[in-house]
Amino acid sequence: MGLHVFQPVELDEILEGAFHFGGDTWALLTAGDDEKANTMTVSWGGITHIWDKTCAIIYVRESRYTREFIDAQKKFSLSFLNRDAYRGLKKYLGSVSGRDEDKISNAKLNLNFDDGVPFIDEADNIIICKVLYKQLMKEDCVVNGRIIADYYDKGDYHYFYIAEIKKVMIR
Ligand SMILES: Cc1cc2nc3c(=O)[nH]c(=O)nc-3n(C[C@H](O)[C@H](O)[C@H](O)COP(=O)(O)O)c2cc1C
Repeated sequence: MGLHVFQPVELDEILEGAFHFGGDTWALLTAGDDEKANTMTVSWGGITHIWDKTCAIIYVRESRYTREFIDAQKKFSLSFLNRDAYRGLKKYLGSVSGRDEDKISNAKLNLNFDDGVPFIDEADNIIICKVLYKQLMKEDCVVNGRIIADYYDKGDYHYFYIAEIKKVMIR
């Protein structure tokens, strides 16, 4: 009896979908409350499964202002906007800091709230998350030194956040 025949597929083919990260894909990571919130562009992250829960994992450098809002509220949202229509915002929200400007109003975006968690009203797809675990990456733990050379020559390591997905919304 012959063995099955397997076809190699491009990784992108099995990763397609509304909540795919990486490559050209980006989302707006938003946190805060009805008094003050901030958002930033993210393209690293993913959906994962741990502790019998489906979770999102995100990677946020220590220096990001948005991180302060995540840590204060222990909740955040990921808003996926139409990539073509909002192409111009990717760079603005991903290079200017909310410490210096009110990015959300400058970008003419509107905040909406789900059970107190802010998200971007213009998004097509939204994930609401509750932080379960966070950890700062550190030099000692890097197994392949290229990672330090390529991403951490100035320090500013990423925190990773594993967060339970509380709700998924599609417009
Ligand atoms: C396409 C793109 C993807 C990004 N992805 C991330 C990311 O996954 N994690 C991160 O810490 N910063 C990422 N950034 C950088 C932040 O969005 C940027 O530093 C932002 O200005 C932080 O804003 P804040 O200080 O208001 O929080 C990305 C930037 C761009 C343009």
